Amino acid sequence: MAKVKTSFFCQNCGAQYAKWQGQCTSCKQWNTIVEEVIQKPEKNDWKSPSSNTKRVSKPLKIHEIDTSLEARLDVQDSEFNRVLGGGMVHGSVTLLGGEPGIGKSTLLLQMALKLRKKTLYVSGEESQKQIKMRAERINPQSNDCYILTETKTQNIFKQIEQLELDVVIIDSIQTLHSDYIESSAGSISQIKECTAEFIKFAKETATPVLLIGHITKDGHIAGPKILEHMVDTVLQFEGDRNHVFRILRAHKNRFGSTNEIGIYEMQGSGLREVSNPSEILISEKDGELSGNAIAATLEGLRPIMIEVQALVSTAVYGTPQRSTTGFNAKRLNMLLAVLEKRAGFRLGAKDVFLNITGGITVDDPAIDLAVVASILSSNEDIALPNDYCFAAEVGLSGEIRPVQRVEQRILEAEKLGFSTIFISKYSKFALKKTCIKIQQISKIEDLVNFFV
Ligand code: TYD
Ligand code: MG
Repeated sequence: MAKVKTSFFCQNCGAQYAKWQGQCTSCKQWNTIVEEVIQKPEKNDWKSPSSNTKRVSKPLKIHEIDTSLEARLDVQDSEFNRVLGGGMVHGSVTLLGGEPGIGKSTLLLQMALKLRKKTLYVSGEESQKQIKMRAERINPQSNDCYILTETKTQNIFKQIEQLELDVVIIDSIQTLHSDYIESSAGSISQIKECTAEFIKFAKETATPVLLIGHITKDGHIAGPKILEHMVDTVLQFEGDRNHVFRILRAHKNRFGSTNEIGIYEMQGSGLREVSNPSEILISEKDGELSGNAIAATLEGLRPIMIEVQALVSTAVYGTPQRSTTGFNAKRLNMLLAVLEKRAGFRLGAKDVFLNITGGITVDDPAIDLAVVASILSSNEDIALPNDYCFAAEVGLSGEIRPVQRVEQRILEAEKLGFSTIFISKYSKFALKKTCIKIQQISKIEDLVNFFV
C-alpha cells in the first residue's frame, strides 16, 4: 500500500499534532483531535475515464451554463420525490440518517427495486442473502438492481466502473473504509475520506449517490459535522419505533425546500407511502369523547389534520403533573397559565396530560387553539363535535393570533368534511364561498363562551 501522509488536527482550533492526544494543548478542548490526510498517492481513488487529461474549469456566463442535464430523476416514490424537491438531481449526494431499526435500509432498498434504472446497492452490514430475503418481502421485482457486499471503497469503485450505473446506494457510510487511511472503519477520518471519494465520483459522473448514516445517541449523524456540509442533501428518517408511521424530513437541501415532509407507514411488506396523512392521524371513534380536538396544522407546505387529546384530572399529590407527548411541555405550561389567568380556570390543582396521536411531534404554533380546546373539553367534560377543527396561535394575553397560510388549512378542512373551523379574527384570507363555517374569534374567552 502506498504511503499516505496523515497528521492530527484539532477540530476546534486547527492546531496540528504529530500524534493523537486527548486534550488540545493550544485550546484546551478535550477529544477534538482527529487524524486527517494531508497528502494521498494519486492512484486507485475514483478516476473517471475522461479525467486523464487534466481538466481545468473555466468561468462561464450564467446563461451559458447548460442545465439540461439537471432534469431530475423520478424515484418512483411520491413522498421521497417531494422531500427531495421534485426528484433526485443527477450528481447529487444525499445522506439519510436515522435511528437503528427505523427503516433506512428498507426505504432505500425499496427505492432501488422500484426504480427502473441500473442501481447498485452496496451493503456493509448485511449479506446478499439477507438483502434478497428483505427484497422478497418488499416485492416489486427489478432486473436492474445489483447488490454488492463490500466495505472497501476502492473495490466498490472497481465494480462501479464495470457496471455503468444510474444510481448508487451505500448502506452505510460508517461501515466503509478507504485504503488511504489507517484508522478503523467508522472513525471520523475514515467517514470523511470515504464520503469525499463518493462525492468526487458523483460529481464527475453525474451519478446520484445515496448514503445511509448512523446517528449518535443525541440524534446527530455519527461522524464529523463537516459531513453534513460536504453532501448536497441531508435527510432524516424519524418516527416512534412503536408506531407504524415514519417521517422523512430534509434538514438540508441544496436543490429544494427543507419544509417538506414525506410520511410512510411500516407494513409487513415494506414501507407504504401515505398520501393523505389526515385520515390516519385522526383516530376512528364511535360518538364524541371529551378531551379531543382536531388541529389544522401545516407540515411544510402540506396541511395535515392532527388530533390532540387532553386529560385533566384532580391532582392526587401536592404537585400537579404535566406530561406531554409530541408537544412542547413548556408551551403547555404557558397555555395553562393563560387559561388560568384569562379564563379563570383553576388548573393549578389538576394533572394535565396531553397527547398528539400517531406518535408525531408538532411544532406548528397553529396547534395552540386545539390544545386549549382539548384541555377545556376535558376539564368541563364536554365533548367537542367531531367535525370541528382549530387553527390559531394563542398569545400570552389570551389573544387568538392568526397563523400563516390559513386558506390552505380551511380548504383542507373543507375537503375532509369538517363543518366548522375556528381561526383568529385577524386572519386574512380571500376565500369567498365555502361550505365550511369559518368561526373567527379574537380572545380565549370567546372560545370558552362558545362551548361552556
Ligand atoms: P431496517 O430498514 O433494517 O432499519 P435500519 O436500516 O434503519 O436499521 O428496518 C428494520 C425494521 O423494519 C425491522 O424492525 C422490521 C421492519 N420491517 C417491517 O416491518 N416490514 C418490512 O417489510 C421490512 C423489510 C422491515
Ligand atoms: Mg440498516
